[in-house]
Amino acid sequence: MMATSAALDTELAEGDFEFLRAFLLERSAHALAPDKHYLVTSRLRPVARELGVDSLAELLAHMRETRDATLESKVIEAMTTNETLWFRDVKPFKALRNEVFPEIIKRNEPARRLAVWSAASSSGQELYSVAMLLAHDFPQLDSWSLTLKGTDINTAMLERARQGRFSGLEINRGLPADYLASYFARDGAHYVIKETLRKKVSFSHMNLAGTWPILPKFDVILLRNVLIYFDHATKARIIEAAAKQLAPGGYLFLGSAETLFGTSTGLISRNIEGTTAYQNGAA
Ligand SMILES: C[S@@+](CC[C@H](N)C(=O)[O-])C[C@H]1O[C@@H](n2cnc3c(N)ncnc32)[C@H](O)[C@@H]1O
Repeated sequence: MMATSAALDTELAEGDFEFLRAFLLERSAHALAPDKHYLVTSRLRPVARELGVDSLAELLAHMRETRDATLESKVIEAMTTNETLWFRDVKPFKALRNEVFPEIIKRNEPARRLAVWSAASSSGQELYSVAMLLAHDFPQLDSWSLTLKGTDINTAMLERARQGRFSGLEINRGLPADYLASYFARDGAHYVIKETLRKKVSFSHMNLAGTWPILPKFDVILLRNVLIYFDHATKARIIEAAAKQLAPGGYLFLGSAETLFGTSTGLISRNIEGTTAYQNGAA
C-alpha cells in the first residue's frame, strides 16, 4: 500500500466556490465556469499545502479573514493557465516575418523605431520568439531603437521570463534547432537565452482587466490565448483598449480561437499567410 501523508481535504462547499468565483472575477476578471470544481481543487491544493492548512475550506477562510495580499496573489496566480510555446501556431510568425515586419520597417525607416508588446507573455516564449525572429531575419534593426515588452498578471511567470531559463522539455516545444544553437547557452539540463537577446526584452506586471499604466504606441500587439478567460464585456473592453495602443498601421494578433467579434475597434481584418491580423488603418 502506498504511504500517505496527512490527506488534504479538497472538498469544496458551494459557498466557498462562489466566494472564489466572485474574488477571481473582481481581481483578475477571470470568469470561472460553475462546473470547474476539479480545476479549483487541483490548482489550490499546492497553495493550501504551502500555507500549512488541512483543507481548501481553511485556505479560503484564511483568505477571507486576513485579506493577505500575498496569499491573494498566490491564489490568482494558481488559477491562471500559463501554457505557452515557441512560435505558437506558426502562421502568425510567418505573417510577421514575411509581411508585417517588412511593411513596418519600411514605414518606420525615418524614425528607426519598432515596438512590440506581448500582452500576456507567460514565461516569455512568445516575446523571445519575436526577438529571435527579428535578430535572425532583420539584422539591420541592430541599430534601431527596439521596444520588446512583455506583461502578465503572474509574477512567478514574469520572473521566469526575465531569467530566460528553460528546461529541455520546454525547448522541445516549437523551437527550431538553428535558433537553439544561435540564441541559447547550455546550463546543465537547462538552456538559457543569451544575454545579447535577453537585454533586448523587458517584462513587467500588468493586469489586463485592471487600470492600465501609461503605455507607448506599439507596431505589433500580441494579445493571444488570454481573452478566453474573460466574460464578453471584459474581453471587448480589453480589445478596444489594446486597439488604442496601436501605432498607425500597426497590427493586433489574437489567439487562433479568438476574434474581434462584438467589439468596435475600427481595425481592419487582414488575412496574411493563412492567419488573421487586425490592422490600425490610420497609417
Ligand atoms: C495561456 S497563456 C498565453 C501565453 C502566450 N500569450 C501564448 O499565446 O502562448 C495566458 C497568460 O495570460 C495571463 N493572464 C491571465 N489573466 C491575465 C490578466 N487579467 N492580465 C494579464 N495577464 C493575464 C496568464 O498569467 C498566462 O500567463
